Amino acid sequence: MVNTNIQAKRAPADQKMYHIGISADDIQGARIAILPGDPKRAPYLAAMLDENFISLGSNREYTSCLARVAGQPILVISTGMGGPSMAIGLEELAMIGLDKFIRVGTTGAIQESVNIGDIILTTASVRLDGTSRHYAQEVYPAVADFRLTMALLQSAEALQAPVQVGITASSDSFWPGQERYDSFTGFVRRKFQGSMDMWRKLNVLNFEMESSTLLTISSVFGTQAACLSAVIAKRTQSEQVDKSHYDDSMCKIMAIVRKTIEEGRIGG
Ligand code: URA
Repeated sequence: MVNTNIQAKRAPADQKMYHIGISADDIQGARIAILPGDPKRAPYLAAMLDENFISLGSNREYTSCLARVAGQPILVISTGMGGPSMAIGLEELAMIGLDKFIRVGTTGAIQESVNIGDIILTTASVRLDGTSRHYAQEVYPAVADFRLTMALLQSAEALQAPVQVGITASSDSFWPGQERYDSFTGFVRRKFQGSMDMWRKLNVLNFEMESSTLLTISSVFGTQAACLSAVIAKRTQSEQVDKSHYDDSMCKIMAIVRKTIEEGRIGG
């Protein structure tokens, strides 16, 4: 339920939103949004839900497709990389009526027990981003919606998908904030030196770049959000990104999402 302490603004049904370029009319009553980062992944993921999906167009980093699962309209829309474009997307998506957000992305694992090809279901995120601080102070949690996350976990377990559940660290940068030294300069400022080992010891599973913004803002809005990430790097062994399991992981993630929707476990 939308946070009743705030005055939620709804856009006129035919108003195309300035950044995402779609209107409430375009999404035909959809309440659920699947959120990849890469614009090319929007049609790719939409086709996994519905081979007859409709393309709604592209504006900036936001590419939108409308799929149907069990007769229900589902919006698949890319958000670009990082917090700022996620936040802008969420604002406009909420204004046109979306209130259930499932991020589908990629991630680097920092625990030895997590492997390339695994899927991480985030329970909460360490807020290493800047955007979420514009919405709530640092002590406010970036926590996934409990019901939505449990519903996805139930499907994942029924499908015997290789899902690991736990805490994610969400950074504003791919290189220094995730303590990567294979950047242009190789420089990681002191604040981040040793941080990967620290997060590992604090039992954080992985690094990515969007979940803390998504989960914080969704909690402030009173909407529901969850995050599923495909592991494409195993940082305990190598800094290489390995996409050899990527298609298989995305199929598994979308099967989890589809089953959860088909079985009516994403509440109204
Ligand atoms: N995305 C990230 O932010 N980090 C990784 O290591 C892989 C994907």
